[in-house]
Amino acid sequence: EKGGYPHFMLKEIYEQPQAIRDTFRGRMREHKGIIKMAGVDDHIDKFLNAKRLVILACGTSWHAGLVAEYIIEELVRVPVEVEYASEFRYRNPVIDKDDVVIAISQSGETADTMAAMKLAKENGAFVFGVCNVVGSSISREAHAGAYTHAGPEIGVASTKAFTTQITVLTLLGLKIAKAKGKISTSDFHMHLEELRLIPEKVEEALKNNEHVKKIAEVYKDASNCLYLGRGFNFPVALEGALKLKEISYIHAEGYPAAEMKHGPIALIDEQMPVVVIATRRGHYDKIVSNIQEIKSRKGKIIAIVTKGDVTVKELADHVIEVPEVMDSMSPLLTTIPLQLLSYHIAVMLGKNVDQPRNLAKSVTVE
Ligand code: F6R
Repeated sequence: EKGGYPHFMLKEIYEQPQAIRDTFRGRMREHKGIIKMAGVDDHIDKFLNAKRLVILACGTSWHAGLVAEYIIEELVRVPVEVEYASEFRYRNPVIDKDDVVIAISQSGETADTMAAMKLAKENGAFVFGVCNVVGSSISREAHAGAYTHAGPEIGVASTKAFTTQITVLTLLGLKIAKAKGKISTSDFHMHLEELRLIPEKVEEALKNNEHVKKIAEVYKDASNCLYLGRGFNFPVALEGALKLKEISYIHAEGYPAAEMKHGPIALIDEQMPVVVIATRRGHYDKIVSNIQEIKSRKGKIIAIVTKGDVTVKELADHVIEVPEVMDSMSPLLTTIPLQLLSYHIAVMLGKNVDQPRNLAKSVTVE
């Protein structure tokens, strides 16, 4: 059932090229210049008239929501707010009929996300579900939705659900941008072309597996780890840290790179590994100076870079390359080595990768 892989998590990491393809297949219709999503088409007025979008989720799905915030605001130019479902539901939130709420959940059963979406519905908002499990409670409770089509995710640590959530939300952003006339035809096509190439690029990123494993060997005994990223890759830093925490039990934190100097930099010494997402398109010069700041305090740098990078290569202790891609889609690639890194560290430490202590696959209690 694990298809020859030692763990479901590794199998699911390797399924991502296919899972992403399954998510956009049938939806991207380049020859017609459209993206087909019935759940959006049937309620297009809601999306066109929305004064803002509010995304509700927990955990990894919340991180996918943060990536979507950056993508959708850039494409559609409407404000997007991303909320922890557990906070939203208990604070008498400001929400009304002009809001479109997007509830993101792999399992479709998360109690807090479910309660938050019900509250939004009671206040008149239109609720759109992004779920992986077909027929799940959240998918049924939503007014409309789009499935991720990632296939069953068994490993407790979410991997392919995350990248397929980002894929669906990218399609959603492009579709609304097109419907609102916020994107030119050529730009729209360029995005679709770029998305179509993602599975092959994920494939290529997976080829670094052995190299990542060697890096894992060096840092497996660390007791702390920092993850830094900017822009579209800030949420990827959060997600990388969560993956490490939940399966290896190593304390890790993700930060927007520029926040370093407001506190976390005090933690840096020669014992501290810092994973930096330093791809070429996204605020590259700024990231390079963040790396220099860490190096001058003797921190160890593991950098995720764009293929062919030279500058960061000279500064970092280790680099892991990912293929070139437009900035907004880079999370789909930069996430891959971070998943592999936490996987290998957890295996080397003898942890139960697929069923980490204290965690359940669906959190149906609050
Ligand atoms: C992390 C993880 C959790 C879930 C969270 C939400 O790897 O799996 O953080 O992402 O419990 O679950 P869903 O997406 O099923 O609502």
